[in-house]
Amino acid sequence: MNPRNLFVTTALPYANGAFHIGHIMEYIQADIWVRFQRMRGATVRFVCADDAHGAPIMIAAEKAGKTPQEFVAGIAAGRRQYLDGFHIAFDHWHSTDSPENTELSQSIYRGLRDQGLIDVRSVEQFFDPVKGMFLPDRYIKGECPKCGAKDQYGDSCEACGAVYAPTDLKNPFSALSGATPELRSSDHYFFRLSDPRCVAFLQQWTRSNDRHGQPRLQPEVLAKAQEWLGEGAAPDEPGGAAVAGGKLADWDISRDAPYFGIEIPDAPGKYFYVWLDAPIGYLASLKAWCAKNGVDFDALLADPTLEQVHFIGKDIIYFHVLFWPATLHFAGRKAPDRVNVHGFITVSGEKMSKSRGTGISPLR
Ligand code: 2FM
Ligand code: ZN
Repeated sequence: MNPRNLFVTTALPYANGAFHIGHIMEYIQADIWVRFQRMRGATVRFVCADDAHGAPIMIAAEKAGKTPQEFVAGIAAGRRQYLDGFHIAFDHWHSTDSPENTELSQSIYRGLRDQGLIDVRSVEQFFDPVKGMFLPDRYIKGECPKCGAKDQYGDSCEACGAVYAPTDLKNPFSALSGATPELRSSDHYFFRLSDPRCVAFLQQWTRSNDRHGQPRLQPEVLAKAQEWLGEGAAPDEPGGAAVAGGKLADWDISRDAPYFGIEIPDAPGKYFYVWLDAPIGYLASLKAWCAKNGVDFDALLADPTLEQVHFIGKDIIYFHVLFWPATLHFAGRKAPDRVNVHGFITVSGEKMSKSRGTGISPLR
């Protein structure tokens, strides 16, 4: 068999803090695999980037008295010591807040729109009248509608475990300003994942083998994907209620200004939700690597021998085995060849967590 031609990525870390040991574990895992493939004669481009966009980063930047761009540049400047310290050898480190990602995200969106897979619908959401912005669920607090516990988040109660919508909270308030939020309507853009073409494609893609006759997903990951694709999915999966009543629901891909993100073409004041442009950052990073190395990006992607392999953690399977392959495929691009999923590093069976005091800095 000819030497393999590979494009390999790890998940793009949010540019809101330093690496924790879970990031480093994933990078080492992927780096080992990349070195192994190179020893076998493969050509490998191994890239990553900062995942720069989204409301939490915009809010963190504001708190720090910086523009979002300054804030993420500060985070990016701290990356090298970790990567060098662990001999993690990415060929390129990029950012989703980049011209390459803007161009690719807008072009992929246009591709989906041309396929008739974008819908515009009015959505009612909490708006913070002091901050002048729609509030992401995690910034809305109030009393649990079930047990009455105070100071609970907009999605679930830490006291009784109830799961609900932010609009169910009693006496809701904005965690940003303390103001009482108002319900307001706004147009949102949806990727029509429930379209039978998407469901049929994902059924086939998730179950099919890669070119080496190996399943592209691990058995546990495939089982979860099958659940999401219609065999009894839970309504509270991550991704903004994209699964409803055991079948795929459409995916809300827009956010209203002010938002740190990429503008949606022909939709003034609307930005792509960070999870739309984040995986496109894989391509943006490869494109920047190509420019640096005199390689034709479009020709490389069009090369039928190129295999696209992603290493990710189990918390973001949803985005990588449903949204991402469908986005690529219906925008006329090749879907990934393999998604390699790892679990979490745990302490006494619990996910490591800085806030619970069980985090370990990779630097000490
Ligand atoms: O979960 C996270 O940390 C995300 N920043 C991962 C993004 S992976 C890819 F889609 F960019
Ligand atoms: Zn409760």
